Amino acid sequence: MSSQDLQVYLNGRFVPVDEAKVSVLDRGFLFGDGIYEVIPVYGGQPLRLDEHLRRLDQSLAAIKMKSPLGDKEWSAIFDRLISGTADQQIYLQVTRGAANKRDHSIPAEITPTVFVMCTPIAPIPLDGIKAITVSDIRWDRCNIKAITLLANILLRQEAVDQGAAEAILVRDGQVLEGAASNIMIVSGGKIITPPKGDTILPGITRDLVLDLAKNLGIPTEERHFDIAELKNADEIWVTSSTREILSVIELDGKFISGGIPGKTWKTLQSAYQDYKRALREAPSTRT
Ligand code: PDD
Repeated sequence: MSSQDLQVYLNGRFVPVDEAKVSVLDRGFLFGDGIYEVIPVYGGQPLRLDEHLRRLDQSLAAIKMKSPLGDKEWSAIFDRLISGTADQQIYLQVTRGAANKRDHSIPAEITPTVFVMCTPIAPIPLDGIKAITVSDIRWDRCNIKAITLLANILLRQEAVDQGAAEAILVRDGQVLEGAASNIMIVSGGKIITPPKGDTILPGITRDLVLDLAKNLGIPTEERHFDIAELKNADEIWVTSSTREILSVIELDGKFISGGIPGKTWKTLQSAYQDYKRALREAPSTRT
């Protein structure tokens, strides 16, 4: 699909992407004043839609906004944009809207800007990725899925510049998450991941992987760990909606799990693919 063929939703209208225009006074453009969601779609069905919509509500509430649309209205928009049954991702963004002047404080009366698009999901590297550890330079509200991603961009680019695919963020000695993913380690037969809180995004994939592990009888633990424990882990994974579960096979230039994806990753990867298959085959709930 060329970009001209892409239909998007903007403020109540479905238009070709080239015709979707936002004011230069939009506070998303001027301040990064907005939030977003990324929802994977398999066989035309959004994965864990309710969970994504609840996180959207939480992000909006955290920046003092109300959801501009109800669940049924969001679903109706997604249904119009999802095309066919190939794997896709919904990107949705709500900014505070366009004010009539640039002023940091929040205007009393302002109409949010609502944008949604649906695009193909890129192929996922199944043979593992390289990652580096970096010092976390982000703010103290990392649980908000804010469009203000400058720190995440710089951290990810540091990884890319070193030939790695992800940066793993460390703050006060604690390993928190990736620049655009959550982190899990396998150690002593357990899957360990940092607890939810202000220092990580509450990932939907993270929760799904923990649920799948519990169903398989694999022990899980939500607790903090430090960089020494990370480096000694049997396996390291990063999880996200668009990259599922990626096995980190090299960290800071040293092999992890012998430089190949580990056996627990293979088990969870297979359970994740089964979950996607069931979603693809489930009777459609879409209208
Ligand atoms: N990012 N942590 C951060 C900082 C993220 O940006 C993401 C996802 C995650 C994983 O969350 P989830 O499993 O709900 O996708 C964790 C998305 C995919 C992005 O920015 O494109």
